[in-house]
Amino acid sequence: MNLDQYIRDIPDFPKPGILFKDIMPLLADPKAFRHSIKLLAEIYKTRKIDAIAAAEARGFLFAAPLALELEKPLVPLRKPGKLPYRTYSLKYELEYGSAELQMHTDGIQIHDRVLLIDDVLATGGTMKAGASLIEQAGGVVDSCAFLIELTFLQGRQKLQGYEVFSLLKY
Ligand code: PRP
Repeated sequence: MNLDQYIRDIPDFPKPGILFKDIMPLLADPKAFRHSIKLLAEIYKTRKIDAIAAAEARGFLFAAPLALELEKPLVPLRKPGKLPYRTYSLKYELEYGSAELQMHTDGIQIHDRVLLIDDVLATGGTMKAGASLIEQAGGVVDSCAFLIELTFLQGRQKLQGYEVFSLLKY
């Protein structure tokens, strides 16, 4: 199955000059959505992973089914003010604008190996912030996996030192 046919190009969203990769057609097709999760599960099922973490909001859409498939704990990394318990926090730059991510201080155990998931790798700022949060909590980033990688934005460079995998490259 070619997942590329389920990714829709939206020009000039959310700002002029940005070509947005819309994953909604993939989510709207259960067979394609399941296939994307199965592909990720195949890669990571043999690795020693203790938890799966993902950034709000679209990262959750892939991390949650993958956590169920791999039977691992799910650790949500959320935008500020959403988490009720004590948090670690990191500000970072986005492809368009800036943002902040937070994680519960007990989201993972010390030395846990964590698989970080997101729908899109653009500049890498979100994933770098997520990886730093995992490390603040005493965890180890096993790898960073994406549905889509926008290679022209060179997000991999920001993630140097981490293993990076993507299902689709543009
Ligand atoms: C998008 C996407 C990634 C991030 C990628 O999230 O889901 O998390 O941007 O960009 P980066 O590599 O430049 O950091 P967004 O902040 O738009 O939030 P959303 O998931 O809530 O839509």
